[in-house]
Parts: sequence; C-alpha cells; structure tokens
Amino acid sequence: MSTIEQVVDAFERQATYCGEHGSPFTARLLRVALRALQRGEPALQVIAAWPGDPVADALPLRLAGALHALVLDGRAEALARHDPEAGGAGDEVALRDAMVAALRTHPEVVSDYLARPPQTNEVGRSAVLLGGFTTIAAHAGLPLRLLELGASAGLNLNWDRYGYRLGDTHGGDPASPLQLAPSWHGAAPPVAEVRVDSRMGCDLAPVDISVVSQRLRLRSYVWADQQSRMAQLDAALAVAARQRPQVTRAMADDWLERQLATPVAGVATVVYHSIFWSYLPAAAKARIAAAIERAAQAADAAAPLAWLRFEFDDPSQRPSLRLSLWPGPVEWHLADAQAHGQEVFWHGGAAATTALRAPRHGRVGASPTM
Ligand SMILES: C[S@@+](CC[C@H](N)C(=O)[O-])C[C@H]1O[C@@H](n2cnc3c(N)ncnc32)[C@H](O)[C@@H]1O
Repeated sequence: MSTIEQVVDAFERQATYCGEHGSPFTARLLRVALRALQRGEPALQVIAAWPGDPVADALPLRLAGALHALVLDGRAEALARHDPEAGGAGDEVALRDAMVAALRTHPEVVSDYLARPPQTNEVGRSAVLLGGFTTIAAHAGLPLRLLELGASAGLNLNWDRYGYRLGDTHGGDPASPLQLAPSWHGAAPPVAEVRVDSRMGCDLAPVDISVVSQRLRLRSYVWADQQSRMAQLDAALAVAARQRPQVTRAMADDWLERQLATPVAGVATVVYHSIFWSYLPAAAKARIAAAIERAAQAADAAAPLAWLRFEFDDPSQRPSLRLSLWPGPVEWHLADAQAHGQEVFWHGGAAATTALRAPRHGRVGASPTM
C-alpha cells in the first residue's frame, strides 16, 4: 500500500513530464486532481490508498485516461468545455468542479481505468524505426519477415504503409492517410528498396481495433491536448481497418522462442520492439536475449537475423534506436529520438563490431511517456 506522499510524488512527476513534453493541459489537469485529492475529495479517495506503486503503475495516466475517455464518448460535457481543442482553458475552480462531477457521475469508468495499466500504440515511432528497416534491407538485400514484440494494436506493423518526410528525404506511401514528418536532425537514413514478406506481432493484451470500445480506449490514453498524436492515431487506425495487422495474444518470450525455432531462408528475419522492454521482468528479458542469441548463431547470408529496438537505455535520456545484425555481428546505434517519435537525431550506420547488447534493464513498469 502506497502512502499519500508517494501518490502526490507520482502526480507531480507525471505533471512535470507532461508539461515538458507538450501537454500543458494534461499537466494542469493532474495538478488540479492532486489538489482535489489533498482537500479530501471523496471521488479521489480510491487513489489516496493505492495498493501498488503509483509511479510504476502509472496511476496518474490511469486517471487521465478515464477522464479523457469520458470526454471522448460525450459523457463529460462540462469537462469537455475545458478541452484545449474546444478553446476553453477555464479557471481552475471550474476545471476542478467539472472533473469532480465526471468522476462522481461515472465511478464505474474510473474503477475500470484504475484497474488496468494504460496501453498505447504510438505510430509516430514508425518514423524512428523506418531507418532501421531500410538499414537492414540495404545490408541483407532480402525481403523482411517482421516479428514485433509488444505490438499493442499492431499499428507499427504497418510502417511501410505510411508516408514519410525525414529531413529532405521523402519515402513510403505518398497516398497513405498517415504522413509522418518528425523534426529531423542529421543525415537522411539509407534509401533502400524494402519489401515486407510477412508481418506478425504479439502482445500480452492485444488491442482489437475492430471493437469500438477498444479503439476509444486506445485514443483515451493519448494526452488530451496532443491533437497531432490523436490525428496520427486516427489515420493509422484507418489504414489498419483496411489492412489488419495480425497480433497474437502471447507472452513475448514464449512467442519469440517459437518464431525463431527454425531459420527461414530467403528473408531477413527482423525482431523489433519499441517502448516495451522496461515492462518485462528480468527472466523474460533473459529468455528473449537467449532466443535471439541462439537464432543468431544459425543466421547466414541466406537467412539473416536483425534485432531492432527503440528503447530507453536510461529513463532520464531520450530512447535510442539500436540495431544488431547477423551474420556479423554488427551493431549500430542508429538514432536517439523523442519517445513519441516527434524528433529524431539520426546518427546513421558507422558499424561497430561488438558483442550482443540487450537494452539495459530499466525499472519494471509503465514509463511516463506512454
Ligand atoms: C508502451 S506499450 C508500447 C506499444 C507499442 N510497442 C508502441 O510502441 O506503441 C507496451 C506494450 O507491451 C505489451 N507488453 C508488456 N509486457 C509484455 C509481454 N511480456 N509480452 C508481450 N507484450 C507485452 C503491453 O501490453 C503493451 O501493449
């Protein structure tokens, strides 16, 4: 059971993070909730006595998700009037009253959101991963067999169906509803013909985008004042409605062991993941690294293996895009990027031959980026 001081600390940290990452409204909402909690608001007592670790459980984002869901499905009209998109900043008392009214009127939504970890699928990360895929294709000269771990709704399995402007370079599908153009620093990533042979993902709780309530849930975890992320998500959902990515419900370590059991010739097998590693217990990380190491020993030019990951090495720094490729091994630190893929610092592929290196073990639990 956490103390009230730990809950306050979690809200303060999350509000600071949101404020520093383009979400002043969400930062304000969390601080208003915190002050209401400290004044003894009954609708918030359920979080005052939180049974777990409020930081690792991303407690503030669970509450923010519940409030955003109520706004999105039209059940919190007063709160919706404060939404930055509706033009209403409003004063703090009015915002607090609207928030408290939503919480009191819909306790079932609040308990449902508090009971589950927030789950996002951030398609902006496709713009970071893309340079990894083109680097693999340029080296392997083969179609790609994609295996994504922690794929959520599978929207980053459709990365080749989006359009891109990366610095001065254009790529991907110019007719796609989703066009990604992050702020780009450094040279352009390698240009290579990339053909996807097959694509599959796994997640312990896949989001089924054919279900309205699951789409709403995915949208509710996008911070309310980040309309460009919301528009990107909606565009990716439109692509996925036509070309549905296959995401199997499975633990990543079990699933990957099965996928890598037999080498597949004529394709480059690409294991990849983004903002997923820190959610794994140490035993699962070790099993995944061991499965990759075993498969790497069997890799050759006809059946190469790549491990591409966009993950936090250090939670206080930007996540990095790293690639290991076999036969080799060669390892690249290709880029660092803002966690949602909005800004990319491309380093490129000055290859270094090094030992296999898994992302460092961060704290288990949700990250403030979500
Ligand atoms: C922060 S989300 C990132 C989703 C997606 N990779 C992205 O970048 O948008 C982390 C995902 O990992 C999944 N996950 C966590 N632990 C897992 C495990 N052991 N096996 C499979 N999926 C897992 C969660 O369900 C969630 O969908």
